[in-house]
Amino acid sequence: MRMTLLRLSRAATAALVAGAALTAAAHSAEAAEAADTLGSAAAAQGRYFGTAVAASHLGEADYVSTLNREFNSATPENEMKWDATEPTRGTFTFSAADQVVDHAQAQGMDVRGHTLVWHSQLPSWVGGLGAADLRSAMNNHINRVMGHYKGQIHSWDVVNEAFQDGGSGARRSSPFQDKLGDGYIEEAFRTARAADPAAKLCYNDYNTDGVNAKSTAVYTMVKDFKSRGVPIDCVGFQGHFNSNSPVPSDLRANLQRFADLGVDVQITELDIEGSGAAQADSYARVVEACLAVDRCTGITVWGVTDKYSWRSSGTPLLFDGNYAAKPAYHAVLSALGGSGGGGNPGGGTATCTATYTRTADWSSGYNGQVTITAGSEPIGSWAATVTFASPQRVQATWNTTPTWSGNVMTARPSWNGTLAAGASTSFGFTVAKNGSDAAPVVGGCTVS
Ligand code: XIL
Repeated sequence: MRMTLLRLSRAATAALVAGAALTAAAHSAEAAEAADTLGSAAAAQGRYFGTAVAASHLGEADYVSTLNREFNSATPENEMKWDATEPTRGTFTFSAADQVVDHAQAQGMDVRGHTLVWHSQLPSWVGGLGAADLRSAMNNHINRVMGHYKGQIHSWDVVNEAFQDGGSGARRSSPFQDKLGDGYIEEAFRTARAADPAAKLCYNDYNTDGVNAKSTAVYTMVKDFKSRGVPIDCVGFQGHFNSNSPVPSDLRANLQRFADLGVDVQITELDIEGSGAAQADSYARVVEACLAVDRCTGITVWGVTDKYSWRSSGTPLLFDGNYAAKPAYHAVLSALGGSGGGGNPGGGTATCTATYTRTADWSSGYNGQVTITAGSEPIGSWAATVTFASPQRVQATWNTTPTWSGNVMTARPSWNGTLAAGASTSFGFTVAKNGSDAAPVVGGCTVS
């Protein structure tokens, strides 16, 4: 089976369907009241909506305009990690992190600090230290990094990913755990409190989003910290989801049980692999879970655009590689109580995609099918071109009334071409190979 996926888009200026004037007027009246960016919609709910930011992309105009328009909190994606800030013992470099912080502050965004004590992205010199030296290096690292940004960070991930996956609820092996034991975590929090008393101090982890053995182990630690007066203010739930690790149905209940311990909760690195309506629905469920918990103070997505996601094989973010707002974006905005948005206030961008599949194959011919799927806005009609290799001959088509130019077929709907946002339809054809087994090339879908 061969698949081709192409996307063309254009602004959906009203006027596509009868009654457009009335619909547009109704939309703009609504847009005047509802927030039309993620940050402003979240702010209206008393929350922040942030993103991971990479200093290396701050020279890209589309990246910056999307970042500035939509988000009111920024987390440096890698720039504050130990390997970036203290690659050599005692020598601190903040230039890349400062770029992100300066940019965020100039835009009036808050900054999340990520992260101080973590087994990963840790320079190898740390692993070579003996216990006493490691303790002092850890405390010095916290003091120096937090000191540099004192008063400028709303929440710090003081310790990241200290627990193992799986059912054991055990601590993860790391230089800190192996040499200092469980106590390194509370020592890090006590040091952090003194270093910047204004910052909220968070424990951050993944696969802790639902109620499970790992999240319960974190819960037990937080409960213990609260009972003994160890300074902890918040728990971060990374929120990295895909089909193997979907948004848990008890996300809200899990956030609530932590909140009930007297800490804030935050979704700190949200990304959800997938596309279309299913991805949009998962995103909306995360936003709804956060809004349902008073102490869920904000959500951060782990990047602005699919183009730069750390999950390079997926499309887990809210903007596609061309910075077009995806269905997931509109679902998040609407779950936050906003509308419009996506950089095109008052009307979204109507798009469609065309996906080709060979559905049957025999020695002298094959059947092909093209699935047309509307993007985040409804579409009035569509057209897709399909180019067949010579000397193939199309013998039959269904669900389309095509026009031809040489071996290029332009397929349009046979009857009503209306599709709701995210909805699909398909058309098909039977082809005589005449000696050529080449797949036809789908030249994209245009909204009309
Ligand atoms: C990731 C970054 O996005 C990548 O650029 C980097 O190569 C590896 O780290 N959990 C975390 C984040 O706490 O720091 C990680 O970020 C993703 C998983």
